[in-house]
Amino acid sequence: MENPYLPYPVRIDSVVTETEDRNLKTFKLVFLHAGDSDTFCHRAGQFAELSIAGKGEIPIGIASSPTEQEFLLFTVNKVGVVTSALHQMLAGDIMGVRGPLGNWYPWEQMEGKNVVIIGGGFAFTTLRASIVYMLHPENRSRFGDITVIYGARTPGMLLYKDELSAWGERDDIHLHITVDATDDPDWKHNVGFVPTITQEKAPSAQDAYAIVCGPPIMIKFTLPILSELGFSRERIIMSLEMRMKCGIGMCGRCNIGSEYVCRDGPVFSLSQLAQLPNEY
Ligand SMILES: Cc1cc2nc3c(=O)[nH]c(=O)nc-3n(C[C@H](O)[C@H](O)[C@H](O)COP(=O)(O)OP(=O)(O)OC[C@H]3O[C@@H](n4cnc5c(N)ncnc54)[C@H](O)[C@@H]3O)c2cc1C
Ligand code: FES
Repeated sequence: MENPYLPYPVRIDSVVTETEDRNLKTFKLVFLHAGDSDTFCHRAGQFAELSIAGKGEIPIGIASSPTEQEFLLFTVNKVGVVTSALHQMLAGDIMGVRGPLGNWYPWEQMEGKNVVIIGGGFAFTTLRASIVYMLHPENRSRFGDITVIYGARTPGMLLYKDELSAWGERDDIHLHITVDATDDPDWKHNVGFVPTITQEKAPSAQDAYAIVCGPPIMIKFTLPILSELGFSRERIIMSLEMRMKCGIGMCGRCNIGSEYVCRDGPVFSLSQLAQLPNEY
């Protein structure tokens, strides 16, 4: 695209309310113009700026995999002006998508390696993109073991419930779902915080990368466990959520030291983050 500030026009194809509190919705978007889906070529881990006329623009991680070429998915938590406006919108409404923006998970380095995905809360979005990407028949053999540890506060707060069930049936992915608490007698998965379950399941660090996305408290307690398990800082990959405006390294809104999170990130290894001032 010539003008990096110009969004692609898209139509909302469908909206799914993901969670029992109704604050998280997944928007399936399709491009209005034929050919735009080929130009918008993203990698799992990237984000885009979603725009609503008269309301504004917000950075949101791309929840669909590059292998899902006909549409884009974004899962959005209702927190303020733009996200609330988006939650009011319906199938058929028109909006804008600018991107893809930022870097992505280190797919080239992870090829041939085991991949451990650890997610909590609604930060699971780009992790969903990554899992769908790796499980695609054309890609599955390019990765070793895939282990996923995903936690939410309650069963009703889990995202992508149908897909979690489908992944649970497969024998080429080790899926560990957990909730902080539940009184559901039929709950078949784990109960406990993500760091505890990570310690219990103890995924091997041998030839492995770990991608960790979630609330700060989850990350704080998960990182030492990954270190104990033997994951080096270079092989622990995280995605940062800073306040952003332009999304392309022009406005200076999102910098940490010399790095712009929108352009040089949002994906960083723990060793890269260790070189930066602690402003995130
Ligand atoms: C790279 C990236 C990926 C993201 N991916 C997702 C995603 O997949 N799903 C999702 O729901 N959200 C995601 N976010 C956060 C999302 O951008 C903010 O929630 C959104 O911009 C809020 O817009 P608003 O107009 O509704 O809120 P505002 O009215 O601007 O603010 C409402 C509240 O949200 C807080 N807030 C605003 N912007 C941010 C921000 N960037 N980070 C944290 N808190 C913020 C404000 O402090 C305030 O408390 C992502 C952010 C980044 C930078
Ligand atoms: S958001 Fe403008 S420089 Fe990053």
